[in-house]
Amino acid sequence: MTDTTEAHDSDAGDSQTRRRFLTAATSAVGIGGVAGVAVPFLGSWNPSEKAKAAGAPVRADISKLEPGQMVVIEWRGKPVYVLRRTAEQIAGLPGLNDDLKDPQSASSAQPDYIAGEGRAINDEFLVIVGLCTHLGCAPKFRPEVGAADLGGDDWLGGFFCPCHGSKFDLAGRVYKGVPASANLEVPPYSFENDNVLVIGVDAEVV
Ligand code: FES
Repeated sequence: MTDTTEAHDSDAGDSQTRRRFLTAATSAVGIGGVAGVAVPFLGSWNPSEKAKAAGAPVRADISKLEPGQMVVIEWRGKPVYVLRRTAEQIAGLPGLNDDLKDPQSASSAQPDYIAGEGRAINDEFLVIVGLCTHLGCAPKFRPEVGAADLGGDDWLGGFFCPCHGSKFDLAGRVYKGVPASANLEVPPYSFENDNVLVIGVDAEVV
């Protein structure tokens, strides 16, 4: 598996950064077990150099994203994780509240139109900035329920930051007892239609 910690290193040249993100995205899709689905997305993931410089919104076709799969989309030089959650993954979120620092995201960065445990416009699709709120590493997607190194039976899947051990659930909410203090940021986003996600444009203005 490719180390997605490379993905947040946006100081390199544009072409190198783009290559890293595409590699990370392909890897993340592979975690869900359906290799090759990344190809139809590539055109949508690559705004022009001019658009990137302007911080333009990024559109992504999410129609091929299967339940349980995650892709990484570059927006303003940041990796944005887009996870299509399963019904089981969504159902498990409220039961984790007592284990989390900020279960309702009262002190975490997210748009006003995001609320509740799911932290999403549509609970099926989680959209978060893939940069740890501790010191900015890229957390790894760890969806395996019961992962022995992440709490065993208590682990329902989520994100793990290898830099200093911060853990986040499948809504990007940070666990107690780890260095990070805030949930992973939710960027402004909206849906152009059922198949197209737009990162960088708030839901109300579409
Ligand atoms: S940067 Fe993620 S735990 Fe420190």
